[in-house]
Amino acid sequence: MNSNFEDPNKEKEERQTIIERPIAEQPLASFEQQESIQWKVEIFTGIRPTGDLTVANFVGAVAPILELQNNGKHPMVFVADLHAMTDKEPKIAMQFTNDVVADYIALGLNPEQTDIFVQSTIAQQVGQLTLYLMRHISIAELIRVPTLKDKLKDGQREENASALLATYPVMMAADILIQRAKEVPVGEDQVPHIEVTRLLAKRFNAQYGQTLYVPKVQQVETLRIRSLKGEGKMSKTNPNGAIFLTDSLDEVAKKIKKAETAFAGEMSPTLASHVTLAKNLTYKPEDKVLIDEIIEAHMQGQTVMGDFKKIFTEITLRFIENFQQRRAQVMSDPTYIPSILEYGAKKARENADETLGSVYEAMTSGAKEG
Ligand code: AMP
Ligand code: TRP
Repeated sequence: MNSNFEDPNKEKEERQTIIERPIAEQPLASFEQQESIQWKVEIFTGIRPTGDLTVANFVGAVAPILELQNNGKHPMVFVADLHAMTDKEPKIAMQFTNDVVADYIALGLNPEQTDIFVQSTIAQQVGQLTLYLMRHISIAELIRVPTLKDKLKDGQREENASALLATYPVMMAADILIQRAKEVPVGEDQVPHIEVTRLLAKRFNAQYGQTLYVPKVQQVETLRIRSLKGEGKMSKTNPNGAIFLTDSLDEVAKKIKKAETAFAGEMSPTLASHVTLAKNLTYKPEDKVLIDEIIEAHMQGQTVMGDFKKIFTEITLRFIENFQQRRAQVMSDPTYIPSILEYGAKKARENADETLGSVYEAMTSGAKEG
C-alpha cells in the first residue's frame, strides 16, 4: 500500500476540516481477503481507445494482454471510453471504440478466450458505483495520488485541468470492483490506481460489511520503445519517428532506412530500442538469433548496421502486412465486432448489476454506524 495516501495521521487535521467524518479514521480492521466474497473475473484490464496505433503501442500495451490470454487464462478486457473523456471530446472517444477493438483482434486478441466490452455500455452502473465510492476518499487524498501529481507537473494546471482528472482513480476503482476482478495486470504507471481501488474496497467493507472483492495488482513489465529518430518515445505526436500499423509498406521501409543507429562498437538507447522492437515484432526464433549475432559483431566494431536494418525492415514489414490483412478480414463482416461487444457487455452488465445490488443492500441495511 502506498503510504503517500494511506497515512492516517499525517494530514488528519487537514482532512478533518474538509470532511465531516474523517475517512481515514474509518475502521480498517479485518482486512484480509474475505472468504465470503467470490471474485467473478479472474483477470481484468482496460485499454484506452487510442486511434492510430503504433508498433510501440503493440509492444507496450497489447502484447502483455496477449500474453495473459495465451497463458490459458480467461481475461475480461474493456475499452475505457468514459475515461477518455478526461482529455477528449466524448464523440471522438466513442468514435474510436470499434476501431480499437478491430485493431486488438487483428493483433491477436481472441474473442473466444477473452470477453471484450465497451465501458459506456455500463455507464450507468459504473457511474453509480463511482458516486458511492467517492464518499470513501477525501479531496486531500485524491490530489495526492501520484499519477495526478505527474499530470499536473506535465503541463496541466490545477486551475484549468478538469475535475475528471482528479476523480479518474475512483472511476477506475468502480470499473474493477463492479466486475469483482481478482487480478488486475497493469504497467507500473497504473499501480497507484490499483492501490486506490484496494483502499476503497477495504474502506467500504469496513463500513458496511464484506461486500466488495479486494483485487490484487499484477504488475507487468512494460517495454518502452523510442522514436526511430532517437527523440524521446515513439508516439503519434512525432509521426516521422513512429511506425503506424496503418502505414504503407513503402512508408515503413523508408522510415526504417532513415532511423538513427549507432557508431560501430557503440550501443545507444535508440539502437537498443530498435533491437527490442524487432525482437518483439517477430515470432521467429531464428530472427532473434540473427539479431543477436549482428549486434555482437557491431559491438566488436564491425560495420553491420546495414544488415541490422535489413532484418529490422523484413520483420516489421511482415508484421504490418499480417496485421493489415487480418484487420481487413475482421472488418469484412460488419456484424462481427458488434456481436462480440454485445456478448461481452452482457457478461459485464450481469456482474455489474449483481455487485450494485449487494452494494445497495449493504449500504441500506448493513451499515455498522449511523
Ligand atoms: P497512448 O498512445 O499514449 O495513449 O498509449 C496507449 C498505450 O500504449 C499505453 O498503455 C502506453 O503505455 C503504451 N505506449 C505508448 N507509447 C509507447 C511507447 N513508445 N513504448 C511502449 N509503449 C507505449
Ligand atoms: N487507466 C488505464 C490506462 O490508462 C486504463 C484503465 C481504466 C484501466 N480503467 C481500468 C486498466 C481498470 C485496468 C483496470 O491504461
